[in-house]
Amino acid sequence: MYAMTVPRFGPPEVLTPVELPVPEPGPGQVRIRVAAAGALPVDARVRRGERPLSDAVTLPLVPGNEFAGTVDAVGPGTDEPAPGTEVLGFGTFGGYAEYVVVPSDQVVPKPAAMPWEVAGGFSAQAQGAHMALSAVGVNPGETVLVNSAAGGLGTVAVQLARAWGAAMVVGSASERNHDHLREIGAVPVLYGEGLAERVRAVAPRGVDAALDSFDDDSLRQAVGIVGDPRRVVSMVSHETARELGLPEPAGPRSAARLAEMVDLYERGLIRVHVRRAVPLADAALAHRELDTGHGRGKIVLTL
Ligand SMILES: NC(=O)c1ccc[n+]([C@@H]2O[C@H](COP(=O)([O-])OP(=O)(O)OC[C@H]3O[C@@H](n4cnc5c(N)ncnc54)[C@H](OP(=O)(O)O)[C@@H]3O)[C@@H](O)[C@H]2O)c1
Repeated sequence: MYAMTVPRFGPPEVLTPVELPVPEPGPGQVRIRVAAAGALPVDARVRRGERPLSDAVTLPLVPGNEFAGTVDAVGPGTDEPAPGTEVLGFGTFGGYAEYVVVPSDQVVPKPAAMPWEVAGGFSAQAQGAHMALSAVGVNPGETVLVNSAAGGLGTVAVQLARAWGAAMVVGSASERNHDHLREIGAVPVLYGEGLAERVRAVAPRGVDAALDSFDDDSLRQAVGIVGDPRRVVSMVSHETARELGLPEPAGPRSAARLAEMVDLYERGLIRVHVRRAVPLADAALAHRELDTGHGRGKIVLTL
């Protein structure tokens, strides 16, 4: 099968196409013929060799933690989902390939109306947003701050907070993404120095909970804005989050969590913006875009 690998750590250009044997599903596993796979910041961090993440991987590595496709074979003792079922799901690497094998409880049925590109880039950020906001809770009528709100994770988190009853979601982004934030239901503010004043100007009664997915500084800003560390969560600055006594994201990823997010999508409460879809062969292009650290919505690889 065709796959894209990281043979050594480095710039996007290290991504190399290879031919690998088609993997066989073992007991309790399913094999999916991949139609689309998300290109995630974590894939780029691993490719760059960022520690400690890169210490845990063995090269060559096929990146990709989320995918969508058609079940093509099932392992012994696996009845569901049957071959031919269209699914979306998650794994730990392996998504940048024609076929991926995962446990059968890591996929859920793909709604017929969900485009492949959306499905391929849905699982990671949908579950990430769900785990993050579950950790801090969102109560009806509250105000929630989502930092980096225009990105893949932020775009879903804004809409999930609204779906769970937040009266107001303040989202931080660069100016060029402010219209996008308004479209998904957030009040936009510029990120960076002075964030607290800008948030206060649009939410004078204060902010009840916050999600940060940028860095230590923006996380500390969020804690200052909310005032209560128990209601702030980080999806990236795990060490600082522990130091500050913040709750951990409410993991793990699961089919039930993913199915709940797919249900919100089907009900029109979560929309996904695919900023770019490129063929898997052009994965380096996708990674160059990821490496900019800017942009709205998802980058997806198609097969
Ligand atoms: N642990 C998990 O389960 C999990 C799940 C999902 C995501 N994550 C992590 O969460 C992070 C975000 O993921 P993503 O997919 O949303 O990334 P993304 O799509 O690349 O978005 C990154 C966002 O960061 C914003 N940004 C750039 N400079 C900023 C600054 N100085 N302050 C605040 N925001 C800034 C950008 O906004 P502009 O374009 O407006 O500049 C961009 O929209 C990644 O590190 C990812 O690995 C973790």
